[in-house]
Order: sequence, then structure tokens, then C-alpha cells
Amino acid sequence: MNRLLLPDKVAIINGGATGMGRATALIFAEEGCNCVIADVKEEEGKKTAAEASKKGKECIFVKCDITDVKQIEACVDQTVKKFGTVHILIGSAGGSVPRDRVLNPPKEGVRPRMGVENTQEAYFDLMTDLNYKGHVFFCKEVVPYMKKQKYGKIVLISSMGVYNPPGPSVEYHGAKAAIIGLVYNLAYELGPSNINVNGILPGPIKSPFWDPVLSMVPDSERGKMLDQMGQFTPIGRIGLPEDIGYTVMFLCSELSSYITGQMLNVGGGIPLGRFDPERGFMRMVREGRPPR
Ligand SMILES: NC(=O)c1ccc[n+]([C@@H]2O[C@H](COP(=O)([O-])OP(=O)(O)OC[C@H]3O[C@@H](n4cnc5c(N)ncnc54)[C@H](O)[C@@H]3O)[C@@H](O)[C@H]2O)c1
Repeated sequence: MNRLLLPDKVAIINGGATGMGRATALIFAEEGCNCVIADVKEEEGKKTAAEASKKGKECIFVKCDITDVKQIEACVDQTVKKFGTVHILIGSAGGSVPRDRVLNPPKEGVRPRMGVENTQEAYFDLMTDLNYKGHVFFCKEVVPYMKKQKYGKIVLISSMGVYNPPGPSVEYHGAKAAIIGLVYNLAYELGPSNINVNGILPGPIKSPFWDPVLSMVPDSERGKMLDQMGQFTPIGRIGLPEDIGYTVMFLCSELSSYITGQMLNVGGGIPLGRFDPERGFMRMVREGRPPR
């Protein structure tokens, strides 16, 4: 029997133009879900919407900058006008824009330094608006529809960087940590309305997320560098956007209807390290003496 997992549902996927959001839209379409891609990237967003529409139900692109509350309100209004309601919200928009794009005025050839002592208010505000505030206001707009129909699924993307930072970024990691608080609070508040709220803590995933972060690395080297990053996971490979997309689908399907208020690590086994019989404890056991 071929059973669709999201039959006739309506989902808004913010950040759905590329990466994990895009993968989620394509998977949702195959499972019978209508999707709205809410993103700032118009060209990529329209392309993803067209690709998803070919797979199943209707998928449209709505240009929406989630740092602007008015645009969030307009996006949800447009979704409801088109599809009648919203059943699912995926919060995938986010990222870590380099500080030098925001600092005013950026100094030619000078790389802004990392570390909390170099925090700037404008950068802090941008990271918080993009990675936290926008998600709070998206939830605010969709919840009334979910409550009315006594059904809803919300999945928000945080980051393993919250507890295992690959580099210092109080602005980005702090905002991603706030997503965890948002998930716990909403799950508690909305459980009685049959709205499941969960979050994902992705490990390293090969996506355009890394383009601004690795802007100093030549294009030809970036893929190799990401593949090497994957070698540190117990699974031994970098994650793909679909690894997150399938987890999101599980959390939005009836297969997980008793799961709410959970933050799921999806990172090839991180925070566990990679098993290496040549190092540390295993070597000590084999050689019967402390490591040199
Ligand atoms: N890739 C990773 O290794 C990784 C790891 C941990 C967490 N994350 C998080 O996962 C989420 C998805 O990232 P991804 O890897 O798919 O990267 P991605 O860059 O492909 O996707 C992010 C999407 O968000 C959109 N976006 C950016 N600013 C926006 C705004 N103001 N309004 C609306 N949309 C906006 C982008 O256009 C893009 O389509 C992000 O929140 C990111 O912080 C990524």
C-alpha cells in the first residue's frame, strides 16, 4: 500500500529556497503537501517551487524577509488566501552572515575579528532578528490557524553550534540557543491545541550556508573542506540537506504524533567524537601504558 505521509496539508517553509528548506519542500511535495517557500532569494525560491510542483501538489514562492514582521504577516495572509489555512511551519531561514557585511563602514581589506569583545550592536541585532525574532513572529502568525483547526506541526532549525561551537559567534549561537527555549515554551503552551513543536540541531550539512562562512576559502577548495569536516563525525561523512529534510518530514507526519518539545541532534553522531583505535584511550588499553 502506498500511503502519503502529509496528505493535502499546507506548509510554509521559510528559508526554503536552498539547502535544508529546499530538500524539505521536495520531500513534502512527494508526500502530498502543498508548500509555500518564504525566502529572500527570488530566483532560487521560484526554481525550488517549480521543481516541487512537478513532484506532486502545488508549491508557490512568496518573497519574504523574516527580519521584517510586516513581510511575515503578508506571507501568512497570502498563504491562507491561496490554500485556506496553514498546517505546518518549518523555520529553516537563518545563517551567519560575515560581520564585515554589516559593520558600518566596513574597512577595505580589514577582516573584522571574532570574539565577544568585538561584538557590534548592528551585527548582534541582525543575527538575532534573522535567527530568532523572525521565527517567533512566524509562529505568532500561524498559531491562530492551527489552534482553530486543532492541528499543527512546527519544526524549527537550531544548530549544534549552540553547545559545540566550531568557532566563536555569540551572536549566531546565542540566537540559535534561543530557538531551543522557543521550542520548549511553545510545545508546553500549544500541546493542548494538538500542535506539536520540535526542533532540530543539525551538525555539519553541505549547503550554501557555508558560502559566506568560508568566503575566504577558494570555491574549488570549499567542497573538499566540508567533506573533511564530515570525517570528524562517527558516521564519517558530512550531512546532506536531505538528511535534515527526512527528519523534518518524520516530525511533521503522524508517525511522530506523540513527540513534542524535543530537540533532535542530526549530525552523524555528534556530539560523540569519532572512534579511532590509534588514539587516546584505545591505544592506552592496547599498549598497556598511558599515552605519550
Ligand atoms: N549547513 C549547516 O551546516 C548548518 C548547521 C547548523 C545549523 N544550520 C542552520 O540550518 C538552517 C538552514 O541552513 P542551510 O544549511 O539549509 O543553509 P542555506 O543557506 O542553504 O539556507 C538558508 C535559507 O535561508 C534564507 N534566508 C536567509 N536570510 C533570510 C531572510 N532574512 N529571510 C528569509 N529567508 C532568508 C536563504 O536565502 C536560504 O535559502 C539555517 O537556519 C542555518 O543557520 C546549518
